[in-house]
Amino acid sequence: QPVHLQEYAPPAYLVDDVHLTFRLDPKATRVSARIAFRPNPAAQDRTFFLHGEELTLVSARIDGQDVTPKITPQGLTCAVPDAPFTWEAEVDISPEANTALEGLYISNGMYCTQCEAEGFRKISYYPDRPDVMAPFTVRIEGDAPALLSNGNPADSGAGWAEWHDPWPKPAYLFALVAGDLRAVSEGFTTASGRPVELNVWVRPGDEGRAGYALDALKRSMRWDESAYGREYDLDVFNIVAVDDFNMGAMENKGLNIFNSKYVLASPETATDRDFDLIEGIVAHEYFHNWTGNRITCRDWFQLCLKEGLTVFRDQQFSGDMRSHAVKRIEDVLQLRARQFREDNGPLAHPVRPESYVEINNFYTATVYEKGAEVIGMLRRLVGPEGYRKALDLYFDRHDGDAATIEDWLKVFEDVTGRDLTQFRRWYSQAGTPRLKVAEDYADGRYTLHLEQHTPPTPGQPEKAPQVIPVAVGLLNPNGDEVVPTTLLEMTEAKQSFSFEGLAAKPVPSLLRGFSAPVILERETSAEERAFLLAHDTDAFNKWEAGRQLAREVLAKMTTEDAAPGPAYLDALAAVARDDTLDPAFRALALRLPSEDDLAQALANSGITPDPWEIHAAREKLKAAVARHLAEQWPALYREMACPGPYTPSASDAGRRALRLTALGYLSRLDTGDEARRLYAEAGNMTETIGALSTLLEIGRGEEEIEAFYARWSADRLVMDKWFALQTSLAPPQRAAATARALTEHPDFDWKTPNRFRAVIGGLSANAAGFHDPSGASYELVADWLIRLDDVNPQTAARMSTAFETLGRYDASRQARMRAALERIAAKPGLSRDMGEMVGRILGSG
Ligand code: ARG
Ligand code: ZN
Repeated sequence: QPVHLQEYAPPAYLVDDVHLTFRLDPKATRVSARIAFRPNPAAQDRTFFLHGEELTLVSARIDGQDVTPKITPQGLTCAVPDAPFTWEAEVDISPEANTALEGLYISNGMYCTQCEAEGFRKISYYPDRPDVMAPFTVRIEGDAPALLSNGNPADSGAGWAEWHDPWPKPAYLFALVAGDLRAVSEGFTTASGRPVELNVWVRPGDEGRAGYALDALKRSMRWDESAYGREYDLDVFNIVAVDDFNMGAMENKGLNIFNSKYVLASPETATDRDFDLIEGIVAHEYFHNWTGNRITCRDWFQLCLKEGLTVFRDQQFSGDMRSHAVKRIEDVLQLRARQFREDNGPLAHPVRPESYVEINNFYTATVYEKGAEVIGMLRRLVGPEGYRKALDLYFDRHDGDAATIEDWLKVFEDVTGRDLTQFRRWYSQAGTPRLKVAEDYADGRYTLHLEQHTPPTPGQPEKAPQVIPVAVGLLNPNGDEVVPTTLLEMTEAKQSFSFEGLAAKPVPSLLRGFSAPVILERETSAEERAFLLAHDTDAFNKWEAGRQLAREVLAKMTTEDAAPGPAYLDALAAVARDDTLDPAFRALALRLPSEDDLAQALANSGITPDPWEIHAAREKLKAAVARHLAEQWPALYREMACPGPYTPSASDAGRRALRLTALGYLSRLDTGDEARRLYAEAGNMTETIGALSTLLEIGRGEEEIEAFYARWSADRLVMDKWFALQTSLAPPQRAAATARALTEHPDFDWKTPNRFRAVIGGLSANAAGFHDPSGASYELVADWLIRLDDVNPQTAARMSTAFETLGRYDASRQARMRAALERIAAKPGLSRDMGEMVGRILGSG
């Protein structure tokens, strides 16, 4: 049942041209296809197979003659001529019955599609694989005001519209939208002078919330021209917001479809974080036009070819728009929280997986985020000019191709003359490398002894050494930088690097900018970490020093009930007061490691984490920080107020982040008075949510939760926040009960993925609450995953990752998690998606 990378074979038939006609109807949409096929000279096999699932075949013809294909649940086969031929088929499908949100479905009265990875086969019989690319012409018949598909508008009339997409594309990039939608529009002229119409399509009434996405789109288009020399290639670019969506967004050619959460924003309804995400995701989907669409993937094993690269590109873009230092810290926080967690558990897999049962289960942090890290390492190794040359060659050589990781690496080899054979292991070896560091100093010579080791992962007991770019700087004991950032290229299991001519033993700043996705293991004193926090010239490592310090303090508080030492508290005080530092950076430095981060750190050092003890220790540390800086918080809170009307700019957002951090600590001293005041006066959603979450964290805010509901109950996106806040911030003892009560709330529309994620995902993200020793949360999450699996297997399977940390915990918790998983596994009619996930987590798949 699993598919293997090694089994790749080219398609038996190629497609020259596709014509599709949709006669829209909620219960029975008629899809007529006319497809020009031709035998593929590069293939041996001559079997004519078309994918097709849940389709009712009405008629089929080859070159005008009726045929009777052989139909299976996966598709059809048919005898065909040994020459080019025209295939025509009509099928009926039911968008209304489609709750899986894959293929053509209806969201809030609006037709929309999601075809990546293998959804097109639920729309029409077709060779639904990314290496079959063709130009599409689409005719839509329906009575909706907006009838949209890929490419350029060709013609339209009352109740119909035609679209033509001249760029050959795989079926996964097909899209169709029909509904009562309004466009918020603007013109754009590309660098070479092509006029493009940009539209963000929203439901009537939401027009006022589309501006930021539109602005982010224009900035993305300009940026891709200057940073990568990539221009847009159609007359229109459409973005549509839909409420029911399994993922964040989708890069369909010329017609991006977004989860409305990542398009719609106004100061009243969206937080700074929402604005930031919208900017990043709009850019991500736009950048796919070149890295994904013009150059696509040969097969789904190559998913990181487009996703890793596009994530890397959107990270560069956001860094350019905002602050590189802050962006890097946020990206590493996310990488550790999601990817390291995945890489160190039963779901670990290589950036380019070698087998899968259900490809939708591989849209993971490893493919996306580690995939982006691998590109960042490549860029560091070859330098920015080498990188740009390699990318120019990539676009030049592979435009119009369905390419592979080998093709990608080859352009780097050709441009730089480097041998990337060993580097390729980053794509094939799973697991997070550990980098052990020892040092010695004598007679002006300082030596770093590095040792790398990657623990075993499922199916990969042994790991070979990888190329690890280690960016290092050295500071002298006064805090001056004596050796600026230098790149060490580690290729052996053990390797030493020396620096000469140093007057005193330096303090090393290792892995600057987080130059490789590894876990650094270096024992050092709290004083040295505090020294780096104060003096490091590398912003990432400055933050990292404080983070390590916090982790160690928290670990000691958890396991030994120790009090936080002065090194940490004084260092934090210095950062809080240092107004030469960007407020956004200070906010990040004052934030404590999450409970899950600490559980991960303890597990890595061989200690079984107790989530309730971690929670209690973290609460104590927050109280200690609050008291230690008691004088500072009110002043910081006042100073960071943003004068004037709300803007989502990075600088204002940074001030608000620091202000709300101050509020969080302050509220531990004033029982929430200031937070209640802010809640009452807040002029934007960032402050509203900041005040409300502060209150919930100190066990208050009941009235505000009521008031929030009264004010926002008609707004879906805002209500998602209301649900998520309560489950994710509930005190550990009450989390399961809180979530259960919310699942009984009349507004818990569990078939809408955003709402399901708010409640069940919120509980899973509440580390202490999820790991309630009674097992109540495991049970509740399992109950709901079982229920959702029948309706929407993709989203259900994704959320089963709540259980991926099973191996970390004590025997009793493990047994309860296992029992919950086994109950899911035993559900009759379990989806392939969920079956694969649960099997892998339990170590039986
Ligand atoms: N390609 C999309 C993106 O990264 C993600 C779509 C994934 N969809 C899915 N069903 N697996 O922007
Ligand atoms: Zn993507």
